[in-house]
Amino acid sequence: LSLHTHPWLADHQVDGTVLVPATALIELALHVGSHADCNQIDELVLQTPIVLTQDDTVALQVAIEPTQNGNRHITIRTRPALRERNHPKEISWTENAQGTLTTSGAHPPVLGAWPPAGATPVPTTNLYRDLANHGYHYGPAFQGRNSIWRQGNTVYAEVTLPHGDTGPDAAFRIHPALFDAALHAILLDISANTGGEIRLPFSFTGVRFHSTCGNTVRTMLTITGEHTAAAILYDPTGKAVASIDAIVLRPAPTTLVAPQHTDDSLFELTWVPEHTNGVATSPQTWAILGDRTSPLAQCLQTTVSVGNGTPPAAIYPELSALFADGPAPHLVLYPLPCQAPPDEGAIPDAVRSTLREILALLQDWLASAHLTNSRLILLAQPPPTADDATDRWELCSEAARGLIRTAQTEHPDRFLLADIDHAPDSLAALPAAITTRIGSAPGERELSLRHGVVFVPRLAPSTSRPGQASIDPDGTVLITGGTGTLGSALARHLATQYQVRHLVLVSRSGLAASGAPELQSELQQAGATVTVTACDLTNRAELAELIASFTTEHPLTGVVHTAAALEDATLTTLTPGHLDQVLEPKASTAWHLHELTRHMGLSWFVLYSSAAGLFGTPGQGNYAAANVFLDALAHYRRSRGLPACSLAWGQWQQTSALTGRLTDADHARLQRMGIVPMSTAHGLRLFDAAVAIDRPRLVTCHLDPAILRSSAHTGTLHPVLRGLVRTNGRPTSSPAPQQSLPERPTRLPKPDPIRTLEDILAQAFGEVLGVPADRVDRVRPVNMLGVNSLAVLELRNRLRLLHGWKLPMSRILGGATIRDLASDITAVYEDGAST
Ligand SMILES: NC(=O)c1ccc[n+]([C@@H]2O[C@H](COP(=O)([O-])OP(=O)(O)OC[C@H]3O[C@@H](n4cnc5c(N)ncnc54)[C@H](OP(=O)(O)O)[C@@H]3O)[C@@H](O)[C@H]2O)c1
Repeated sequence: LSLHTHPWLADHQVDGTVLVPATALIELALHVGSHADCNQIDELVLQTPIVLTQDDTVALQVAIEPTQNGNRHITIRTRPALRERNHPKEISWTENAQGTLTTSGAHPPVLGAWPPAGATPVPTTNLYRDLANHGYHYGPAFQGRNSIWRQGNTVYAEVTLPHGDTGPDAAFRIHPALFDAALHAILLDISANTGGEIRLPFSFTGVRFHSTCGNTVRTMLTITGEHTAAAILYDPTGKAVASIDAIVLRPAPTTLVAPQHTDDSLFELTWVPEHTNGVATSPQTWAILGDRTSPLAQCLQTTVSVGNGTPPAAIYPELSALFADGPAPHLVLYPLPCQAPPDEGAIPDAVRSTLREILALLQDWLASAHLTNSRLILLAQPPPTADDATDRWELCSEAARGLIRTAQTEHPDRFLLADIDHAPDSLAALPAAITTRIGSAPGERELSLRHGVVFVPRLAPSTSRPGQASIDPDGTVLITGGTGTLGSALARHLATQYQVRHLVLVSRSGLAASGAPELQSELQQAGATVTVTACDLTNRAELAELIASFTTEHPLTGVVHTAAALEDATLTTLTPGHLDQVLEPKASTAWHLHELTRHMGLSWFVLYSSAAGLFGTPGQGNYAAANVFLDALAHYRRSRGLPACSLAWGQWQQTSALTGRLTDADHARLQRMGIVPMSTAHGLRLFDAAVAIDRPRLVTCHLDPAILRSSAHTGTLHPVLRGLVRTNGRPTSSPAPQQSLPERPTRLPKPDPIRTLEDILAQAFGEVLGVPADRVDRVRPVNMLGVNSLAVLELRNRLRLLHGWKLPMSRILGGATIRDLASDITAVYEDGAST
């Protein structure tokens, strides 16, 4: 069972978590009962909700066995369904529900007049909004067209579900979505009785199915206690369809409503289904960029031209053709040039060439003045069969994702990344998914379509339970970059806290690195044997020699890869050489470490990645790509039963060779994003927690909730952080109501427009540069104020996002002062075209 096999289940969420509805378990129980001549569920007690995420597939087991009095005992269990070859170990089953099946002849009488005489109509316009405010998020497949009446403790409801949204109806006695929707009418009453606490069904007693129905049911719900009710469902002729003698609700498990996380700085990237779309943009023109013969391009052509009366979108093999005969289209779909490498050995080269090709396209796109009002939608589609080739494809496409994320940060509203499966529903849903999501503020940057359901990436506190992290003290742990700042802190930690007795620390400088001899003697005093080796890890032969040197007496048991180098450049100046300089020590070395150690039975394979890959840090497209590759490699290894954990670190307090280059403007940017530098002790605590958690990819980043909230308020919160900002005390996956942009001024501020605009500009400069606004010189050319091109990019983006002003980069860097810019803006207002 998964969201791929049953996409409509994504429309059943409780506080942002997709749960298999209890009515689906009832359907299963009734179905299995029918094979054992039992037509009644005497009792079904729900123990653990079945949670589904985008990637998980759940194996489901329903077992029945006779009881002494001739009835049947039923148990419903689930466990993660994984490919056998990948997970040789036995994974235990979780018991989700159990109960008893019996036989009964009872049949409710036919329903009389409808609506029942004396019942008062209840307004239903805001039913689903109100339910969502209480934590019950129902998407279209579960939202019935409802009419509700009330009479004393009885609630009558008529519910019609749209045909088609819920899959092949005939397969069910009564479709679980319709059955669930038939019970919605009492949820608000029950919530009101329990002070707004989320309640979920706990047990069902006396459940019988009587006859089939179409897509409309009439329900009589009787509230029998503070959190108990009885229900009879009828078809529109009044014939009974199903009945439940008693439903008991109980508070939702705390893990659902308030995730119990190990540390507030430990997160996981989740893909959440999203129904509350952004604002649909005005009609758009479409085109496809790519090879005319590509099947995907041809499918896209028909998809984007359906329904809006326009001729089929053209396929252009080259960028310049997009605007050769007139204005460029608004939206240009570009299938990513990412092929599955033929074998594992080809992966580093394939990553490199994919990134080069995409970089060249992004640069050409940005360089063209004809495309400034167009958006490029980079479309990733995995190979049609899910096998090893797909896994290899994913490594390349994930690296590309990192680069594209930086392009999105540097140039907001120019690029969207969408990935799409091969389901026809997904292709059909693509145009609307794009046009609605680019309208939110700030727009979504990424989306994923699976069986027509849209998912967006959101960071969520990790709720994984830590196990016991251990490593054989007699084995050897290799730390690449072991003489660097985080590498040496970890070496100390492993020697003292994990009693690791054999450490090999590698960097190009080896013992010549600053502090390396002192580190070595400190570790030796702690009882460890330490080898500090000078080795350029980008040289595979040298790395292979190093790996081969580990003795059988102290075999290699752990690898922690922290080595990295930076070569920052904004996207428009990034060269293939810059890409290689960063990819080689980080991504290619990680890959070679994987290849060279995969048969060694390691306990740990930890990769130091960076949150830069997740956020798309400006000026670091190469670094973002390398880090996302590491995250993907961890996933790749884990799906092959090999240990792996990639930690996407936020900023550490202790300065290193990498972070020592950060300018005040960089620190100010991190702070504005809500990223708080973490102490070494905090970072190492996170390391401990992360290696004890059974997850391949974790984000280890200290975030300031107050800053996240205020960014949500000003509309500058990164979309991936939206799930961490709570509205009504609950996390939200879609933009919070207050996340609309502050109202943009449409008129010149009075009484002194230039002065006021100067103040706003000085404030924005100060924020970007990390200095108070009154220290920003207003009459000195901006390019002499110590701004680099990255800070100017950011300033331009902020002014555009917050005020709607589009200042050209060339003007800001071309000798203009703040005063000049203020008067430029005044002129724009006077022309009546402020945005
Ligand atoms: N510090 C942070 O706030 C932070 C935040 C997020 C992620 N990270 C990640 O954490 C890791 C460690 O960062 P750090 O801050 O500790 O940086 P660092 O002090 O500069 O350490 C990097 C290490 O990598 C080594 N190295 C670079 N290229 C190499 C090569 N070709 N062969 C062998 N060794 C090489 C460097 O030594 P040589 O120059 O002598 O070779 C150095 O020892 C990095 O992967 C970084 O991306 C750090």
